This record gives sequence, structure tokens and C-alpha cells, in this order.
Amino acid sequence: MVLLGSPGVGKGTQGMRLGASLDWAHVSTGDLLRAARREGTELGVRAKRFMDRGDLVPDEVMIGLVRDRLAALGSKRGVILDGFPRTVGQAEALEGMLEREGRSVARVALLEADDQLLVRRISGRRSSPSGRVYNIHYDPPRREGVCDDTGEPLIHRPDDSPGTVRARLAVYRETTEPLIGHYERRGVLARVNGDGTIDEVQTELLAALEAEARP
Ligand code: AP5
Ligand code: MG
Repeated sequence: MVLLGSPGVGKGTQGMRLGASLDWAHVSTGDLLRAARREGTELGVRAKRFMDRGDLVPDEVMIGLVRDRLAALGSKRGVILDGFPRTVGQAEALEGMLEREGRSVARVALLEADDQLLVRRISGRRSSPSGRVYNIHYDPPRREGVCDDTGEPLIHRPDDSPGTVRARLAVYRETTEPLIGHYERRGVLARVNGDGTIDEVQTELLAALEAEARP
């Protein structure tokens, strides 16, 4: 399944929880890129300048990254893609790679919320290097500034500054929103109200998936 939606709408939060509850793999391309940056790999160095201005990393880089990740996971488990595809080119490449394995995108959940809420969520976000995401307003860690699971210090993402967030929202509208129509035409899109508590959104997401996406 694919999680689609604006920056800050809750893709990472829901992807992680759904992955754990369904025993599916959660693949966040943003997290993969941030890990590459921490490790200082060639990919990380290349991605940095795009991410810091809120732009998309070029399609050929992202498609290669996801192809390798899916190949490493094998085809036994369900996969939740979070943050990929983000362009029509990426969506077509994904369809091609899944088709070769006899698989397909079963469901695309579009998480929706208004911009004011997105900006509040993003400003309160604190991220653990483990991938777990907290929020000082809505979902704080037990001890301020420290990950409950790993004890690592929580960070404020560099691309969460107000100027970069505006750029990311604009890129989403221009380049990623056309995917809504793309998946609507394929009959796999489910709209999910992202403006609820984390548990409410999860319940709605599971209901949207129930019919078609369980393996
Ligand atoms: P990425 O990391 O994917 O960023 P994004 O799409 O901007 O989304 P976010 O991670 O900001 O938000 P989210 O929807 O995951 O929300 P979250 O769950 O954290 O990408 C970063 C960059 O990498 C891109 O800008 C681009 O440069 C590059 N990139 C990545 N993929 C790419 C691709 N395919 N192609 C090209 N470039 C790519 O929630 C936000 C906050 O709200 C958290 O604090 C959370 O605790 C809180 N929260 C969540 N849900 C709720 C709720 N229901 N109630 C209250 N609080 C909530
Ligand atoms: Mg995320």
C-alpha cells in the first residue's frame, strides 16, 4: 500500500504503527535519505541540497533506492510505502517493478488535513534517529528530548524550518497532488481524514485497507 499526503499529515506516524500491527514492512523514503545523510554516503551527500531547500530528489535516484529496498525485502510480506511515489514518473516506475514480480499497488490511502494543522504538527515534531516520531503538542516522549525506545536525543528536522516547510507544501501541490487523479483512475484510492487523534486516524486507515489490502 501507498501512504500519500502533505508534509506533516502523519504518513510516518501511521506507517510505523500500521507496519507493526499488520507485520508489514514500513518503507519511508525520507527516513532512508536521512539515514544515508547520517552515514555520509554518496546518496546522502547528493540528496542533502535538494532536501534542505524542500525540493524533490531526482526520480532516477529515488527509483533506484526503492527498487533496491523492495528487492532486499523479498515478496512475502506486505509493504507500506511512505513518501514514495511522489511524482507520476515514480508511480509508473513502481508499477513496472511490481508487475515484474506479479504484485501491484493494492491501496493508496490519501491522508488529508488543512495547512494550519500541518504547520502546527510540523513545528511540534521531534524525531528519533530510530525513525520514531514524537510531537511536543500531541505525542510527547516520556522524558523531554529523549527517545522512549532507544534513549537517543530527539532532533528537530532541518527541513522543518518555516521557509522550507512552505517550499515542501508548494512542491506537494504541484508535483505530488497529480497522483491523486492517477490512483483514482486505477480505482485504488481511499481518502482518509487525517484530522483526528493518532488512534482515530489509524482506525480509519485500517478500515480503508480492510477490503483489499490484506495479503
Ligand atoms: P519526508 O521525510 O517524506 O517528508 P514529508 O513528506 O514532507 O513528510 P513528513 O515526514 O514531514 O510528514 P509525515 O506525513 O510523515 O508526518 P509525521 O508522521 O512525521 O521527505 C523529506 C524530504 O526527502 C523531501 O522533502 C524530499 O526532499 C526527499 N524525498 C523523500 N521521498 C522522496 C521521493 N519519493 N522523491 C523525491 N524526494 C523525496 O507527523 C508529523 C507530526 O505530527 C509528528 O510530530 C507526529 O507526532 C504528529 N502527528 C501525526 N499524526 C498526528 C495526529 N493524528 N494527531 C496529532 N499529531 C499527529
Ligand atoms: Mg515522514
